[in-house]
Amino acid sequence: MPWRRPRKKVDRPVNVSRAIEETLEELSADEDEDDSVELAGVDGASIVEAATGEADTGGRMPSPLAEQLSRVELSDTAVITPVRSAERTEHGVDLAVDAARSLRLKNPVLTASGTFGQGVEYAELIDVSRLGAIVNKGTTVLARPGNAQYRIAETPSGILNSIGLENPGAAGVAKKYAKAWAQLGVPVIVNVAGYSVDDYVRVVSEFAGIASVVAYELNISCPNVKGGMLFGCDPGLAADVTRAVKQETDLPVIVKLTPNAPDVVAVARAVEEAGADGLTAINTVLGMRIDTTKRRPVLGTGSGGLSGPAIRPIAVHITYQVAQAVSIPIIGAGGVTNAEDALEFLMAGASAVQVGTATFADPLAPLKVIEGLAAYVKIHGLSSIRDVIGVALPTSQQAE
Ligand SMILES: Cc1cc2nc3c(=O)[nH]c(=O)nc-3n(C[C@H](O)[C@H](O)[C@H](O)COP(=O)(O)O)c2cc1C
Repeated sequence: MPWRRPRKKVDRPVNVSRAIEETLEELSADEDEDDSVELAGVDGASIVEAATGEADTGGRMPSPLAEQLSRVELSDTAVITPVRSAERTEHGVDLAVDAARSLRLKNPVLTASGTFGQGVEYAELIDVSRLGAIVNKGTTVLARPGNAQYRIAETPSGILNSIGLENPGAAGVAKKYAKAWAQLGVPVIVNVAGYSVDDYVRVVSEFAGIASVVAYELNISCPNVKGGMLFGCDPGLAADVTRAVKQETDLPVIVKLTPNAPDVVAVARAVEEAGADGLTAINTVLGMRIDTTKRRPVLGTGSGGLSGPAIRPIAVHITYQVAQAVSIPIIGAGGVTNAEDALEFLMAGASAVQVGTATFADPLAPLKVIEGLAAYVKIHGLSSIRDVIGVALPTSQQAE
């Protein structure tokens, strides 16, 4: 089934309870063929299962906390109303966090790169200005058409993707979205990808002076052409990219870690030393599906990146390990579908979270996470959400 960018015109609230197939069908209407991403027609889980894990529970009961937080109703303003709420607190609760050094956000919920377009596509579906920040689609120096089909395949509790960084190139993105981002009223973090150190620097230079851009997130899961290695797998190369970008910009630089590195903690330490202001943990996990009828891999590229609830325990584990090794803030990512998932990351030491794959099933998911976190702070009588950051870490336990 084709997936295309959400259409611009939406004249009724999103019904989050309907099937993802319906949502995707609606979102796909009236869009350019260029933007299409084929979904592999394979058997198995629906994307709702893949993205939310809900139908995949095998009879598992929701936890008491999930039940408690799920009773929180989304206010009407969560849906479509074009309220500009950059300074608003959620229900009077202090949710502000430092998502990176010098990057204070009004709440800890961001959208993940590649799962929220350029933000503007979702602006008529949800009140984007309520988000802590958005991270745009991975941006390279030159335009990229992306990989061969299929680019997305469903798995029982996640999705595999090999989009291949399809984007119009840094200059095109900067020109097309600078004004639109300003109107969204939400901070934008530009996700930067490249094939050489110079590529990263050139992308960053294209966004200089755009007011709504508040930080850069370096996607270092790209091959280093010379050695055929991933920047993110090699602490030295990861540090080189970080250092070069830090010299190019005064904005905070966040390095996105790949779980496919042999030693993720070593990479985290190296980029901190090189000046990184924050980390995102994690990017997708390498995976593959085989089409047993065709007797070959489902994805056009063979392997792809696994995301969604399937990778959450991996992501929480890496967050927990990295949080003990560095002192810069960490943004957790990987299978966040609700506030309880987000709390796992925060308690493991993350200062913020990104919601990615879950947004495909439910565009309101990031806002529900914000509401759930506000409810948690209220229920537990905390002074702010910052009180839960790192509480599950060994150091914090010793202090109790
Ligand atoms: C379709 C798709 C496209 C993605 N594109 C990018 C990208 O361009 N740059 C990047 O750093 N991460 C990209 N990611 C990874 C996500 O930002 C995120 O790190 C990962 O999916 C884990 O979070 P999730 O389980 O909440 O989706 C992509 C993920 C998906 C599913």
